[in-house]
Amino acid sequence: MPMPRPDDGKRLDVVPVALGDRSYDISIGEGLLAEAGALMRPLLSRPVTAIVTDENVARLHLPALEASLATAGIRANPIVLPAGEATKSFDHLAKVCDGLLAAGIERRDLIIALGGGVIGDLAGFAAAILRRGVDFIQMPTTLLAQVDSSVGGKTGINSAHGKNLIGAFHQPVAVLADTSLLDTLPRRELAAGYAEVAKYGLLGDADFFAWLEGSASAILRGDSQARIHAIRKSCEAKAKIVAEDETEAGVRALLNLGHTFGHALEAATGYSARLLHGEGVAIGMVQAFRFSERLKLCAPGTADRVARHLKSAGLPTHVADIPGTLPPPSRLVEIMHQDKKAVGGRLTFILVKGVGKAFIARDVAAADVTAFLEEDMKQR
Ligand SMILES: NC(=O)c1ccc[n+]([C@@H]2O[C@H](COP(=O)([O-])OP(=O)(O)OC[C@H]3O[C@@H](n4cnc5c(N)ncnc54)[C@H](O)[C@@H]3O)[C@@H](O)[C@H]2O)c1
Repeated sequence: MPMPRPDDGKRLDVVPVALGDRSYDISIGEGLLAEAGALMRPLLSRPVTAIVTDENVARLHLPALEASLATAGIRANPIVLPAGEATKSFDHLAKVCDGLLAAGIERRDLIIALGGGVIGDLAGFAAAILRRGVDFIQMPTTLLAQVDSSVGGKTGINSAHGKNLIGAFHQPVAVLADTSLLDTLPRRELAAGYAEVAKYGLLGDADFFAWLEGSASAILRGDSQARIHAIRKSCEAKAKIVAEDETEAGVRALLNLGHTFGHALEAATGYSARLLHGEGVAIGMVQAFRFSERLKLCAPGTADRVARHLKSAGLPTHVADIPGTLPPPSRLVEIMHQDKKAVGGRLTFILVKGVGKAFIARDVAAADVTAFLEEDMKQR
Protein backbone atom coordinates (compact mmCIF):
# COMPACT_ATOMS: atom_id res chain seq x y z
CA MET A 1 0.00 0.00 0.00
CA PRO A 2 1.68 3.34 -1.04
CA MET A 3 1.82 6.08 1.61
CA PRO A 4 3.25 9.60 1.27
CA ARG A 5 6.38 10.16 3.35
CA PRO A 6 6.04 13.22 5.56
CA ASP A 7 9.55 14.57 5.05
CA ASP A 8 10.13 14.48 1.29
CA GLY A 9 6.79 13.62 -0.31
CA LYS A 10 8.31 10.50 -1.94
CA ARG A 11 6.25 7.33 -1.95
CA LEU A 12 6.72 4.71 0.74
CA ASP A 13 5.18 1.35 -0.08
CA VAL A 14 4.19 -0.74 2.91
CA VAL A 15 3.37 -4.44 2.68
CA PRO A 16 2.04 -6.01 5.89
CA VAL A 17 2.98 -9.55 6.88
CA ALA A 18 0.02 -10.84 8.92
CA LEU A 19 1.30 -13.24 11.57
CA GLY A 20 -0.79 -12.41 14.64
CA ASP A 21 1.31 -10.93 17.44
CA ARG A 22 4.43 -11.39 15.28
CA SER A 23 3.06 -9.30 12.38
CA TYR A 24 5.34 -6.72 10.81
CA ASP A 25 5.59 -4.32 7.90
CA ILE A 26 7.88 -4.39 4.91
CA SER A 27 8.61 -0.75 4.03
CA ILE A 28 9.89 -0.20 0.50
CA GLY A 29 11.19 3.13 -0.75
CA GLU A 30 14.02 5.05 -2.32
CA GLY A 31 16.46 6.61 0.16
CA LEU A 32 14.98 4.85 3.25
CA LEU A 33 18.43 4.34 4.80
CA ALA A 34 18.65 8.03 5.66
CA GLU A 35 15.40 7.71 7.62
CA ALA A 36 16.25 4.41 9.32
CA GLY A 37 17.03 6.02 12.67
CA ALA A 38 13.71 7.85 12.86
CA LEU A 39 11.75 4.81 11.62
CA MET A 40 13.45 2.47 14.09
CA ARG A 41 13.52 4.62 17.20
CA PRO A 42 9.94 3.69 18.27
CA LEU A 43 10.85 -0.01 18.04
CA LEU A 44 13.80 0.23 20.46
CA SER A 45 13.47 -0.22 24.22
CA ARG A 46 16.62 1.91 24.66
CA PRO A 47 18.77 3.83 22.14
CA VAL A 48 21.30 1.02 21.64
CA THR A 49 21.65 -1.46 18.81
CA ALA A 50 24.20 -3.49 16.82
CA ILE A 51 24.53 -3.67 13.05
CA VAL A 52 25.63 -6.96 11.48
CA THR A 53 26.92 -6.44 7.95
CA ASP A 54 29.58 -7.60 5.48
CA GLU A 55 32.72 -5.86 4.24
CA ASN A 56 31.28 -4.79 0.87
CA VAL A 57 28.11 -3.35 2.31
CA ALA A 58 30.00 -1.75 5.20
CA ARG A 59 32.26 0.12 2.77
CA LEU A 60 29.34 1.39 0.70
CA HIS A 61 26.44 1.92 3.08
CA LEU A 62 27.37 1.51 6.77
CA PRO A 63 28.43 5.17 7.29
CA ALA A 64 25.03 6.40 6.05
CA LEU A 65 23.15 4.04 8.37
CA GLU A 66 25.35 4.97 11.34
CA ALA A 67 24.78 8.67 10.61
CA SER A 68 21.01 8.16 10.42
CA LEU A 69 21.00 6.25 13.74
CA ALA A 70 23.25 8.87 15.39
CA THR A 71 20.88 11.64 14.30
CA ALA A 72 18.07 9.75 16.07
CA GLY A 73 20.29 9.44 19.17
CA ILE A 74 20.88 5.70 18.74
CA ARG A 75 24.28 4.18 19.58
CA ALA A 76 25.15 1.44 17.10
CA ASN A 77 27.89 -1.19 17.36
CA PRO A 78 28.92 -2.52 13.94
CA ILE A 79 29.99 -6.14 13.43
CA VAL A 80 31.58 -6.49 9.99
CA LEU A 81 32.03 -9.96 8.46
CA PRO A 82 33.65 -11.23 5.26
CA ALA A 83 31.30 -11.20 2.25
CA GLY A 84 30.12 -14.46 0.69
CA GLU A 85 28.22 -17.69 1.31
CA ALA A 86 31.07 -19.17 3.39
CA THR A 87 30.16 -16.66 6.11
CA LYS A 88 26.97 -18.64 6.86
CA SER A 89 28.99 -20.94 9.12
CA PHE A 90 29.24 -21.97 12.79
CA ASP A 91 32.51 -20.01 13.06
CA HIS A 92 30.93 -16.76 11.98
CA LEU A 93 27.77 -17.42 13.98
CA ALA A 94 29.96 -17.70 17.09
CA LYS A 95 31.77 -14.48 16.17
CA VAL A 96 28.48 -12.62 15.72
CA CYS A 97 27.06 -13.89 19.03
CA ASP A 98 30.26 -13.03 20.90
CA GLY A 99 30.35 -9.61 19.21
CA LEU A 100 26.75 -8.91 20.22
CA LEU A 101 27.39 -9.94 23.82
CA ALA A 102 30.60 -7.87 23.91
CA ALA A 103 28.55 -4.90 22.63
CA GLY A 104 26.24 -5.36 25.64
CA ILE A 105 23.16 -6.35 23.64
CA GLU A 106 20.45 -7.30 26.13
CA ARG A 107 17.31 -9.46 25.87
CA ARG A 108 15.06 -6.46 25.11
CA ASP A 109 17.39 -4.84 22.54
CA LEU A 110 17.12 -5.38 18.84
CA ILE A 111 19.80 -5.85 16.22
CA ILE A 112 20.00 -4.85 12.56
CA ALA A 113 20.92 -7.11 9.64
CA LEU A 114 22.30 -4.82 6.92
CA GLY A 115 23.17 -6.85 3.84
CA GLY A 116 22.11 -9.54 1.42
CA GLY A 117 20.65 -12.95 2.17
CA VAL A 118 23.87 -14.20 3.74
CA ILE A 119 23.88 -11.49 6.40
CA GLY A 120 20.10 -11.64 6.87
CA ASP A 121 20.11 -15.42 7.40
CA LEU A 122 23.14 -15.36 9.72
CA ALA A 123 22.20 -12.30 11.79
CA GLY A 124 18.60 -13.52 12.00
CA PHE A 125 19.77 -16.88 13.35
CA ALA A 126 22.09 -15.14 15.83
CA ALA A 127 19.08 -13.06 16.96
CA ALA A 128 17.01 -16.25 17.32
CA ILE A 129 19.47 -17.83 19.76
CA LEU A 130 21.15 -14.89 21.53
CA ARG A 131 19.87 -14.74 25.12
CA ARG A 132 17.16 -17.18 23.90
CA GLY A 133 15.97 -14.69 21.31
CA VAL A 134 16.29 -10.96 20.64
CA ASP A 135 14.38 -8.94 18.05
CA PHE A 136 15.92 -7.95 14.74
CA ILE A 137 15.29 -5.70 11.77
CA GLN A 138 16.08 -6.71 8.21
CA MET A 139 17.66 -4.01 6.06
CA PRO A 140 18.12 -5.97 2.82
CA THR A 141 20.68 -4.57 0.38
CA THR A 142 20.44 -7.03 -2.55
CA LEU A 143 17.47 -7.52 -4.86
CA LEU A 144 17.29 -11.15 -3.73
CA ALA A 145 17.10 -10.12 -0.09
CA GLN A 146 14.54 -7.35 -0.77
CA VAL A 147 12.12 -9.68 -2.54
CA ASP A 148 12.76 -12.93 -0.74
CA SER A 149 15.20 -13.73 2.05
CA SER A 150 14.41 -10.76 4.35
CA VAL A 151 10.72 -11.74 4.49
CA GLY A 152 9.28 -14.79 6.20
CA GLY A 153 11.59 -15.52 9.10
CA LYS A 154 13.73 -18.36 7.76
CA THR A 155 17.17 -17.94 9.30
CA GLY A 156 20.17 -20.21 9.43
CA ILE A 157 23.60 -21.33 8.38
CA ASN A 158 25.09 -24.00 6.14
CA SER A 159 26.66 -27.31 7.16
CA ALA A 160 29.21 -29.54 5.47
CA HIS A 161 26.12 -31.69 4.73
CA GLY A 162 24.29 -28.99 2.81
CA LYS A 163 22.83 -25.52 2.67
CA ASN A 164 20.60 -24.00 5.36
CA LEU A 165 20.46 -27.27 7.29
CA ILE A 166 20.89 -25.58 10.67
CA GLY A 167 18.51 -22.77 11.53
CA ALA A 168 15.33 -21.47 13.08
CA PHE A 169 12.16 -19.65 12.18
CA HIS A 170 12.54 -16.17 13.66
CA GLN A 171 10.51 -13.33 12.19
CA PRO A 172 12.00 -9.82 12.02
CA VAL A 173 10.07 -6.97 13.67
CA ALA A 174 10.39 -4.85 10.52
CA VAL A 175 11.88 -4.95 7.04
CA LEU A 176 13.23 -1.70 5.58
CA ALA A 177 14.06 -2.06 1.90
CA ASP A 178 15.84 0.97 0.46
CA THR A 179 15.70 0.47 -3.31
CA SER A 180 18.48 3.00 -3.97
CA LEU A 181 20.97 0.60 -2.31
CA LEU A 182 20.56 -1.60 -5.39
CA ASP A 183 22.40 1.03 -7.47
CA THR A 184 25.73 -0.23 -6.11
CA LEU A 185 24.93 -3.91 -6.60
CA PRO A 186 27.06 -5.69 -9.25
CA ARG A 187 25.05 -6.47 -12.42
CA ARG A 188 25.44 -10.23 -11.94
CA GLU A 189 24.02 -10.06 -8.39
CA LEU A 190 21.12 -7.92 -9.61
CA ALA A 191 20.24 -10.49 -12.28
CA ALA A 192 20.50 -13.31 -9.71
CA GLY A 193 17.96 -11.49 -7.52
CA TYR A 194 15.76 -10.95 -10.54
CA ALA A 195 15.35 -14.73 -10.83
CA GLU A 196 13.43 -14.67 -7.54
CA VAL A 197 11.22 -11.81 -8.81
CA ALA A 198 10.37 -13.85 -11.92
CA LYS A 199 9.68 -16.82 -9.64
CA TYR A 200 6.63 -15.09 -8.10
CA GLY A 201 5.11 -14.63 -11.54
CA LEU A 202 5.95 -18.14 -12.62
CA LEU A 203 4.55 -19.82 -9.52
CA GLY A 204 1.28 -17.99 -9.09
CA ASP A 205 0.72 -14.82 -11.12
CA ALA A 206 0.70 -15.07 -14.92
CA ASP A 207 -0.23 -11.36 -15.28
CA PHE A 208 2.79 -10.33 -13.22
CA PHE A 209 5.04 -12.54 -15.35
CA ALA A 210 3.62 -10.96 -18.51
CA TRP A 211 4.30 -7.51 -17.01
CA LEU A 212 7.86 -8.60 -16.20
CA GLU A 213 8.38 -9.70 -19.81
CA GLY A 214 7.86 -6.08 -20.81
CA SER A 215 9.54 -4.47 -17.81
CA ALA A 216 12.65 -6.53 -16.94
CA SER A 217 15.02 -4.20 -18.75
CA ALA A 218 13.62 -1.14 -16.91
CA ILE A 219 13.92 -2.96 -13.56
CA LEU A 220 17.51 -4.01 -14.26
CA ARG A 221 18.43 -0.57 -15.64
CA GLY A 222 17.36 1.03 -12.35
CA ASP A 223 14.02 2.60 -13.26
CA SER A 224 12.75 3.50 -9.80
CA GLN A 225 8.99 3.06 -10.44
CA ALA A 226 9.45 -0.32 -12.16
CA ARG A 227 11.79 -1.51 -9.42
CA ILE A 228 9.47 -0.53 -6.59
CA HIS A 229 6.49 -2.11 -8.33
CA ALA A 230 8.39 -5.38 -8.88
CA ILE A 231 9.63 -5.48 -5.28
CA ARG A 232 6.19 -4.66 -3.86
CA LYS A 233 4.42 -7.31 -5.95
CA SER A 234 7.06 -9.88 -4.94
CA CYS A 235 6.78 -9.01 -1.24
CA GLU A 236 2.96 -9.14 -1.42
CA ALA A 237 3.14 -12.61 -2.95
CA LYS A 238 5.61 -13.84 -0.36
CA ALA A 239 3.76 -12.19 2.56
CA LYS A 240 0.50 -13.87 1.52
CA ILE A 241 2.07 -17.32 1.36
CA VAL A 242 3.99 -16.88 4.64
CA ALA A 243 0.84 -15.67 6.43
CA GLU A 244 -0.95 -18.83 5.27
CA ASP A 245 1.83 -21.26 6.10
CA GLU A 246 4.63 -19.82 8.23
CA THR A 247 6.57 -23.04 8.82
CA GLU A 248 6.20 -24.65 5.39
CA ALA A 249 3.76 -27.37 6.31
CA GLY A 250 2.06 -26.88 2.93
CA VAL A 251 1.66 -24.01 0.48
CA ARG A 252 4.95 -22.25 1.41
CA ALA A 253 6.77 -25.01 -0.45
CA LEU A 254 5.61 -23.35 -3.70
CA LEU A 255 8.31 -20.73 -3.05
CA ASN A 256 10.81 -23.49 -3.77
CA LEU A 257 10.01 -23.48 -7.50
CA GLY A 258 13.33 -24.25 -9.19
CA HIS A 259 15.07 -24.79 -5.85
CA THR A 260 15.40 -28.58 -5.73
CA PHE A 261 17.26 -28.59 -9.05
CA GLY A 262 18.97 -25.28 -8.17
CA HIS A 263 20.21 -26.38 -4.74
CA ALA A 264 21.69 -29.56 -6.21
CA LEU A 265 23.59 -27.50 -8.78
CA GLU A 266 24.77 -25.08 -6.09
CA ALA A 267 26.02 -27.99 -3.98
CA ALA A 268 27.68 -29.58 -7.03
CA THR A 269 29.54 -26.34 -7.73
CA GLY A 270 30.63 -26.01 -4.10
CA TYR A 271 28.52 -22.86 -3.38
CA SER A 272 31.18 -20.97 -5.28
CA ALA A 273 31.19 -18.01 -7.66
CA ARG A 274 30.66 -20.52 -10.49
CA LEU A 275 26.95 -20.35 -9.69
CA LEU A 276 25.13 -17.77 -7.56
CA HIS A 277 21.99 -18.87 -5.67
CA GLY A 278 19.65 -16.94 -7.98
CA GLU A 279 21.43 -18.33 -11.04
CA GLY A 280 20.87 -21.87 -9.74
CA VAL A 281 17.20 -20.96 -9.24
CA ALA A 282 16.96 -19.63 -12.82
CA ILE A 283 18.35 -22.87 -14.29
CA GLY A 284 16.23 -24.86 -11.82
CA MET A 285 13.02 -23.07 -12.81
CA VAL A 286 13.63 -23.79 -16.49
CA GLN A 287 14.30 -27.42 -15.55
CA ALA A 288 11.06 -27.53 -13.51
CA PHE A 289 9.15 -26.32 -16.59
CA ARG A 290 10.97 -28.77 -18.92
CA PHE A 291 10.38 -31.64 -16.49
CA SER A 292 6.67 -30.67 -16.29
CA GLU A 293 6.49 -30.64 -20.09
CA ARG A 294 8.11 -34.08 -20.20
CA LEU A 295 5.50 -35.35 -17.73
CA LYS A 296 2.83 -33.80 -20.02
CA LEU A 297 1.63 -31.54 -17.24
CA CYS A 298 2.21 -28.34 -19.13
CA ALA A 299 1.92 -27.21 -22.77
CA PRO A 300 5.00 -27.61 -24.98
CA GLY A 301 6.83 -24.32 -25.53
CA THR A 302 6.18 -22.95 -22.02
CA ALA A 303 9.70 -23.80 -20.83
CA ASP A 304 11.15 -22.06 -23.90
CA ARG A 305 9.16 -18.91 -23.05
CA VAL A 306 10.49 -18.98 -19.48
CA ALA A 307 14.07 -19.59 -20.66
CA ARG A 308 13.86 -16.75 -23.23
CA HIS A 309 12.78 -14.31 -20.56
CA LEU A 310 15.38 -15.29 -17.97
CA LYS A 311 18.09 -15.24 -20.64
CA SER A 312 17.05 -11.72 -21.66
CA ALA A 313 17.61 -10.71 -18.02
CA GLY A 314 21.20 -11.98 -18.28
CA LEU A 315 20.64 -15.23 -16.40
CA PRO A 316 21.94 -18.72 -17.16
CA THR A 317 19.10 -21.03 -18.19
CA HIS A 318 20.80 -24.37 -18.82
CA VAL A 319 23.45 -26.45 -17.02
CA ALA A 320 25.73 -25.88 -20.03
CA ASP A 321 25.87 -22.19 -19.02
CA ILE A 322 27.73 -23.17 -15.81
CA PRO A 323 31.50 -23.01 -16.30
CA GLY A 324 33.46 -26.23 -15.60
CA THR A 325 32.27 -29.79 -15.33
CA LEU A 326 29.34 -31.09 -13.32
CA PRO A 327 28.76 -34.47 -11.64
CA PRO A 328 26.51 -36.96 -13.48
CA PRO A 329 22.69 -36.81 -13.07
CA SER A 330 22.69 -39.75 -10.62
CA ARG A 331 24.96 -37.78 -8.26
CA LEU A 332 22.74 -34.68 -8.55
CA VAL A 333 19.74 -36.79 -7.55
CA GLU A 334 21.71 -38.14 -4.56
CA ILE A 335 22.35 -34.54 -3.51
CA MET A 336 18.61 -33.83 -3.82
CA HIS A 337 17.91 -36.57 -1.27
CA GLN A 338 20.05 -34.65 1.24
CA ASP A 339 17.91 -31.51 0.75
CA LYS A 340 15.89 -30.80 3.90
CA LYS A 341 12.75 -30.84 1.75
CA ALA A 342 13.17 -34.57 1.11
CA VAL A 343 10.72 -36.50 3.29
CA GLY A 344 11.21 -40.17 4.09
CA GLY A 345 13.63 -40.45 1.19
CA ARG A 346 10.99 -39.22 -1.30
CA LEU A 347 11.60 -36.18 -3.46
CA THR A 348 9.28 -33.21 -3.43
CA PHE A 349 9.24 -31.00 -6.50
CA ILE A 350 7.37 -27.89 -7.44
CA LEU A 351 5.95 -28.63 -10.87
CA VAL A 352 3.77 -26.49 -13.14
CA LYS A 353 0.65 -26.72 -15.25
CA GLY A 354 1.62 -23.47 -16.97
CA VAL A 355 2.96 -19.99 -16.20
CA GLY A 356 1.50 -18.95 -12.81
CA LYS A 357 0.22 -22.47 -12.10
CA ALA A 358 2.71 -24.19 -9.83
CA PHE A 359 1.79 -27.07 -7.54
CA ILE A 360 3.50 -29.30 -5.01
CA ALA A 361 4.31 -32.80 -6.27
CA ARG A 362 5.32 -35.08 -3.42
CA ASP A 363 6.59 -38.54 -4.12
CA VAL A 364 8.38 -37.86 -7.39
CA ALA A 365 10.29 -40.99 -8.43
CA ALA A 366 14.05 -40.51 -8.35
CA ALA A 367 14.32 -42.61 -11.55
CA ASP A 368 12.10 -40.11 -13.45
CA VAL A 369 14.26 -37.22 -12.29
CA THR A 370 17.46 -39.03 -13.27
CA ALA A 371 16.03 -39.87 -16.71
CA PHE A 372 14.96 -36.26 -17.24
CA LEU A 373 18.36 -34.91 -16.18
CA GLU A 374 20.17 -37.37 -18.44
CA GLU A 375 18.27 -36.05 -21.41
CA ASP A 376 18.34 -32.38 -20.34
CA MET A 377 22.08 -32.34 -19.55
CA LYS A 378 22.91 -34.03 -22.87
CA GLN A 379 21.23 -31.30 -24.90
CA ARG A 380 23.29 -28.41 -26.34
N1 LIG B 1 15.89 -16.89 4.40
C1 LIG B 1 15.31 -17.08 3.22
O1 LIG B 1 14.08 -17.21 3.12
C2 LIG B 1 16.16 -17.11 1.99
C3 LIG B 1 15.56 -17.02 0.73
C4 LIG B 1 16.38 -16.99 -0.39
C5 LIG B 1 17.76 -17.03 -0.25
N2 LIG B 1 18.31 -17.10 0.99
C6 LIG B 1 19.77 -17.11 1.17
O2 LIG B 1 20.27 -15.86 0.72
C7 LIG B 1 21.65 -16.03 0.37
C8 LIG B 1 21.94 -15.30 -0.92
O3 LIG B 1 21.66 -13.93 -0.71
P1 LIG B 1 22.25 -12.80 -1.66
O4 LIG B 1 22.09 -13.21 -3.07
O5 LIG B 1 21.70 -11.52 -1.20
O6 LIG B 1 23.82 -12.94 -1.40
P2 LIG B 1 24.88 -12.14 -0.49
O7 LIG B 1 24.31 -11.77 0.81
O8 LIG B 1 26.11 -12.97 -0.52
O9 LIG B 1 25.14 -10.82 -1.34
C9 LIG B 1 25.70 -10.92 -2.62
C10 LIG B 1 26.95 -10.05 -2.78
O10 LIG B 1 26.54 -8.69 -2.93
C11 LIG B 1 27.23 -7.86 -1.99
N3 LIG B 1 26.31 -6.77 -1.69
C12 LIG B 1 25.19 -6.82 -0.92
N4 LIG B 1 24.52 -5.67 -1.01
C13 LIG B 1 25.22 -4.85 -1.83
C14 LIG B 1 25.02 -3.55 -2.32
N5 LIG B 1 23.92 -2.85 -2.02
N6 LIG B 1 25.95 -3.02 -3.15
C15 LIG B 1 27.06 -3.76 -3.51
N7 LIG B 1 27.29 -5.01 -3.09
C16 LIG B 1 26.37 -5.55 -2.26
C17 LIG B 1 27.57 -8.76 -0.86
O11 LIG B 1 28.69 -8.27 -0.15
C18 LIG B 1 27.90 -10.06 -1.59
O12 LIG B 1 29.21 -10.02 -2.09
C19 LIG B 1 21.90 -17.53 0.29
O13 LIG B 1 22.63 -17.91 1.40
C20 LIG B 1 20.50 -18.13 0.35
O14 LIG B 1 20.48 -19.40 0.96
C21 LIG B 1 17.53 -17.14 2.11
